[in-house]
Amino acid sequence: MPFIQDFKPIALKDSNLFKPIKVGNNELPQRVAMAPLTRMRAHHPGNIPNKDWAVEYYSQRSERPGSFIITEGAYPSAQCGGYDNAPGIWNEEQLVQWRKIFGKIHENKSFVWVQLWVLGKQRESFEIQ
Ligand SMILES: Cc1cc2nc3c(=O)[nH]c(=O)nc-3n(C[C@H](O)[C@H](O)[C@H](O)COP(=O)(O)O)c2cc1C
Repeated sequence: MPFIQDFKPIALKDSNLFKPIKVGNNELPQRVAMAPLTRMRAHHPGNIPNKDWAVEYYSQRSERPGSFIITEGAYPSAQCGGYDNAPGIWNEEQLVQWRKIFGKIHENKSFVWVQLWVLGKQRESFEIQ
């Protein structure tokens, strides 16, 4: 970004940050998003979102109506994995927990998008020549 010599600061309230924006089908009242944050709290084995903490965690972060949450990275299949304690979103057991999370966020009148991640090809071990 080039250096702007005649930059005139504006008050946060006058910036675009608190103006509505449409993202996909979501009409957001503001433009702040919670970035995806992997917490390594999913149950292993199974990559199941944490049954004790995940609902509360996402509820706290979406408490203010209109919050825009992007979830921690979630695997769309077992083959996409890599970390034992990151959640998956490919089977019913996982979805049972995700539905509780999404339900709570929607109850808070906030928005959620799931970040899908694929960690790529991995090898068990390799030899250093
Ligand atoms: C504990 C932790 C977990 C994170 N997990 C993810 C993740 O699951 N997916 C992702 O895209 N980024 C992840 N990030 C990156 C953050 O989303 C990123 O740091 C944030 O968007 C701020 O952007 P910046 O680091 O470029 O300033 C993680 C960062 C931290 C500190």
